[in-house]
Amino acid sequence: MLSQQTKDIIKSTVPVLEVHGTAITTVFYRNLFEAHPELLNIFNHANQAKGRQQAALANTVYAAALHIDNLEAILPAVVQIANKHVSLGIKPEHYPIVGEYLLGAIKEVLGDAATDEIINAWAEAYGMIADAFIGVEKDMYEKMESQENGWTFFKDFVIARKEHESENITSFYLKPADGSNVPTYQPGQYISIRLAIPGEPYLFNRQYSLSQAARPDEFRISVKRDADNDPNGRVSIYLHDQVNVGDVIEASAPAGEFVLDVAKTTPVAFVSGGVGITPMMSMFETVATMTPERPTAFLHAARNESLHAFDKDIQKYTASMPNAAYKTLYSDQPEGYITRNVLKEMVDVTGEVYVCGPVPFMESMIQELRGLGMNDEQIHFEFFGPAIALQTV
Ligand SMILES: Cc1cc2nc3c(=O)[nH]c(=O)nc-3n(C[C@H](O)[C@H](O)[C@H](O)COP(=O)(O)OP(=O)(O)OC[C@H]3O[C@@H](n4cnc5c(N)ncnc54)[C@H](O)[C@@H]3O)c2cc1C
Ligand code: HEM
Repeated sequence: MLSQQTKDIIKSTVPVLEVHGTAITTVFYRNLFEAHPELLNIFNHANQAKGRQQAALANTVYAAALHIDNLEAILPAVVQIANKHVSLGIKPEHYPIVGEYLLGAIKEVLGDAATDEIINAWAEAYGMIADAFIGVEKDMYEKMESQENGWTFFKDFVIARKEHESENITSFYLKPADGSNVPTYQPGQYISIRLAIPGEPYLFNRQYSLSQAARPDEFRISVKRDADNDPNGRVSIYLHDQVNVGDVIEASAPAGEFVLDVAKTTPVAFVSGGVGITPMMSMFETVATMTPERPTAFLHAARNESLHAFDKDIQKYTASMPNAAYKTLYSDQPEGYITRNVLKEMVDVTGEVYVCGPVPFMESMIQELRGLGMNDEQIHFEFFGPAIALQTV
């Protein structure tokens, strides 16, 4: 337990650290990667370049420090992050390294204002927070390893099939290279894949949602070719252009908390934008095969018909379900957006809704769903990047 004096120091310094947030996290990552370049094999360099990840780690440490009396209160956030950590193979021995460079960065940025007393208080608090993460992650690793066909860290998979789903989304079917089966997973979960791109000094890790209901012998991921931005997406383009049937890539075991409760039979709605459709495919297929009578709505936003993936599959499942409705809107067309009226028509507000898509899409959908009277327990969402605070008011 931390002493009252230590807690007081932590609480009074959090606002100061937040003011210097960007400076501290920039120094932290610079020094961390300089001393431990091997960690560049784990971190996502694009998220670093865009600054989304820098803020996430340090801000979570500060937020946790404010709840140091009652770390239970931030357990949901810890579990969400821990899922990402185990999916990337973060180990207990990484924590002291991050702690050392975070404290070092606080010292470097605050200068003389960071007295020994302050630094020692933060070292103690970081230790407690790190222990909370390490404990949650240990349980997750044990579960992953002990389940049938389970494993921890990365394992080789062979690309068994590669199929176009739309102009810019391609599915990859992955089978374990050792001939074993895959573990079952909860619909909505993701895996991390890890690969070497020729000419690049470090490995690339990316998460991809599993895009079909659990099957005993394979995973399927469906990847959008990220070629509309400058620079182009490294891994998605490499997968589309260079990775073919018979090639081997590494993957971690399924993780993630954005999951369908398969035992429920109450109304459920899936609302996706663009490639955010992938976890919905796994959830929808599961409902269609396990609880086909469940009142289900599938609402999708695509830019146009040629970018619209999985249309035939969704139509096929909808036709086999007595209480399912499916609607797609194309934003290239007039009135092609999912508005509050469209949600009202499709979503049963007494049930649950799953939302995934670009950040502005999720913000708008969640705001409208709340406007229709749904509460936060009913609304589940997934970020296809580091979690950030949504602007929904
Ligand atoms: C839980 C989860 C599930 C996901 N599921 C899916 C899925 O099912 N299907 C799917 O397609 N994707 C999914 N993603 C997203 C996926 O992990 C990748 O982020 C995506 O494929 C892009 O990776 P990339 O390597 O191609 O692009 P990156 O190289 O990572 O680039 C991503 C973006 O960042 C921009 N960028 C890169 N470097 C810079 C820079 N220096 N300055 C400014 N901007 C820059 C690029 O222009 C690009 O738009 C998921 C992500 C998460 C977290
Ligand atoms: C108590 C300490 C830590 C905290 C509070 C923390 C917090 C976070 C947060 C908030 C995220 C973003 C989650 C998301 O994607 O939504 C994250 C991701 C991540 N963390 Fe940690 N983390 C800690 C320790 C570590 C350690 C020790 C490592 C290993 C060196 C690590 C490596 C990573 C990586 C690689 C990611 C994903 C980054 C990306 O893909 O951009 N973290 N962490």
